[in-house]
Amino acid sequence: MSTPLLLLEHVTKRYGQAPPALQDVTLHVAPGETVGLVGESGSGKSTVARLALGLLGPESGTVRFAGHDPYRLRGRAGKAVRARLQFVPQHPRGSLNPALPAGDAVAFALRVHGTPRRERAEAVADLFRQVGLDPALARRHPRELSGGQLQRVAVARALATGPDLVVCDEPTSSLDRSSQHRVLELLAQLRQDTGLGYLFISHDLAVVRQLADRVLVLRRGRVVEEGPVARLWDDPRHPYTRALLAAVRGGPGPHEPVPETSPEPSPLH
Ligand SMILES: Nc1ncnc2c1ncn2[C@@H]1O[C@H](COP(=O)(O)OP(=O)(O)O)[C@@H](O)[C@H]1O
Ligand SMILES: [Mg+2]
Repeated sequence: MSTPLLLLEHVTKRYGQAPPALQDVTLHVAPGETVGLVGESGSGKSTVARLALGLLGPESGTVRFAGHDPYRLRGRAGKAVRARLQFVPQHPRGSLNPALPAGDAVAFALRVHGTPRRERAEAVADLFRQVGLDPALARRHPRELSGGQLQRVAVARALATGPDLVVCDEPTSSLDRSSQHRVLELLAQLRQDTGLGYLFISHDLAVVRQLADRVLVLRRGRVVEEGPVARLWDDPRHPYTRALLAAVRGGPGPHEPVPETSPEPSPLH
């Protein structure tokens, strides 16, 4: 196995006095690999994303991206490492400035990472094309774009710095079925074209299955099962994984009782 690009080892994270949001979580993403993270709402998925991105530090345990502690990236060297680690959020509308044209968000990412001003407009147009958007849409404001288009803008902004890893936190959850499918196809295509990897977070195992090589199942801040996506899908071993699967397959079958400990009424929230 190659050296992990992203590594969380025995990570515990607590917010205030509440029970830990994460407990002893270990997760590796190798270069070019796509690792899925599934679990119901509140299981700790976004906390993993924040730790991976260095927005939070762990209470105990180790987080490393390309050998660096992402929480302590500083200065010029930190910026170069940070360029390799990007983020696609669940709600692109909330992460784009409503007062600015969508293309400006992408141009800003290019500026921060040193693309000269004269090259930026063309670079924005190239990125828009790369994510399947007409470059003319760069002049529109976020309110003039659909959810699917906005999510493509968010992907373009993430690609602007040439990342090795993109953390996607529920990137398709706010989209309708058909845009969801097209955004997943785009992410798969970009991976093929550029060799980047994803930490792909979703409450929906059916969505994760389309993109991930490996999946970890998070429940109440603990990893309860992990393995290659096909194995998890065909032969889920933990009752919680079975409950998640039953939910995406349209409710538990007669031979698949949902254990008492399963979330009520359904893990899909
Ligand atoms: N900023 C915060 N302050 C306090 N508690 C938080 C904060 N963010 C998340 N939590 C709590 O941590 C747990 C995990 O949350 P989160 O990582 O957002 O889960 P998920 O993304 O799987 O829904 C939840 O119990 C949530 O209420
Ligand atoms: Mg979340």
